[in-house]
Amino acid sequence: MTCRIAVFGTGYLGATHAACMAELGHEVLGVDVDAGKLAKLESGEVPFYEPGLTEVLERNLEAGRLRFTSSYADAAEFADVHFIGVGTPQKKGEFAADLTYVDSVIDQLAPLLTEPAVIFGKSTVPVGTAERLRARARQLAPAGDDVDLAWNPEFLREGYAVRDTLHPDRVVLGVDRALPGRAVEVAREVYSQLLDEEIPFIVTDLATAELVKTSANAFLATKISFINAMAEVCEASGADVTVLADAIGHDARIGRRFLNAGIGFGGGCLPKDIRAFMARAGELGADQALTFLREVDNINMRRRSRMVELARDAAGGSLLGARVSVLGAAFKPDSDDVRDSPALNVAGQIQLQGAAVTVYDPQAMDNSRRLFPTLNYATSTLEACAGADVVLVLTEWKEFRELNPDVLGTVVRGKVVLDGRNCLDVDRWRTAGWQYRGLGRAASEAVVG
Ligand code: UDX
Repeated sequence: MTCRIAVFGTGYLGATHAACMAELGHEVLGVDVDAGKLAKLESGEVPFYEPGLTEVLERNLEAGRLRFTSSYADAAEFADVHFIGVGTPQKKGEFAADLTYVDSVIDQLAPLLTEPAVIFGKSTVPVGTAERLRARARQLAPAGDDVDLAWNPEFLREGYAVRDTLHPDRVVLGVDRALPGRAVEVAREVYSQLLDEEIPFIVTDLATAELVKTSANAFLATKISFINAMAEVCEASGADVTVLADAIGHDARIGRRFLNAGIGFGGGCLPKDIRAFMARAGELGADQALTFLREVDNINMRRRSRMVELARDAAGGSLLGARVSVLGAAFKPDSDDVRDSPALNVAGQIQLQGAAVTVYDPQAMDNSRRLFPTLNYATSTLEACAGADVVLVLTEWKEFRELNPDVLGTVVRGKVVLDGRNCLDVDRWRTAGWQYRGLGRAASEAVVG
């Protein structure tokens, strides 16, 4: 069955969701206040880098199933299913989430809802937000209680956004259990193709659905900081964290995924989500439950400092005047997102200590330049590394993992490589005459296979 859907917000989440809902056969209107973004999307251009999304966008624009607008009136008239996919960034100078954009969608949309409608929130919000928004939407809407609001958290990863949206691990839906509306029935229609594939469909209350998302991200962040804490102990004891991760990861109860030690997590989700989670727990009087997340955050930030320390050591004790190349700027590969990017943070710290830093990233150059205009930027790996004293690999793009150390060795001044993501083949680099340092790994010995 075809639904008429509006998706508010056309960022990483909203644009992907809009295009994928059209891919499922629905008629979709993407809504945003940013005219520049809308113009790009209307012409088939994705305003950020996300593998596979351009094809889905083009196909559905052409089929006439997907359109874009800045008009809430058009959206309210066209659709009876509304998804909120706007951002919930960290408030300036605070841990809490800034809910301005989510609130504003409800404040602008609800007064226009004269007919029965269902609003699904997808943005990551502090627990309790959905209940508040549901009451406000019903209060503002002329259709009153014929407007239902449910929470349908999104778990997509950047770089895999299309696949994660069309083949999610689970669909979670939070509804008001006391006053159930049409949300469950409508969600079944919207996601009927996914649910036919027997993807688990978990219907729960609003608070639990909100918490599923925040606790999943808190768990993932904790897993990364756990292995990074082990990396610190490995550094102190001469052990190798990559072998340790492989070995403990074989235990199915632990699992190998998200146990890659390195310069830690960044991006638009994990860092701000764990902070907003702590802030919300504090408001609820449950702050003690999440004090460990402060340590998760601390461990994560310490890894960045450790990388700077290694660079300083590699430059002979001072970075003043050293030439440092940084390969990678995005917070992770297959993305151009530099929000809270560990790579750029490390590059910035090294520059502050007096080094000349040149950065190269396959996709994130424009975003990096906007955020860190004072760093030097190159247009290729070889250009970035020309004359370098130290090379840092800080985002594990495939093209960096597969770099040929013999070729790179011909352009640098010093053959020193620091692997901030433990993504290089240590033996290969050492055989090519490079001094290799990874995080959580012994300083000089070749790794025994
Ligand atoms: C995350 C969640 O995975 C996703 O479910 C949620 O919807 C949004 O937040 P994303 O931010 O796209 O997704 O990236 P993710 O792949 O989770 O990586 C987050 C950060 O952790 C990156 O900086 C990555 O480099 C780092 N990371 C990941 C590690 O340092 N080690 C690992 O083992 C895994």
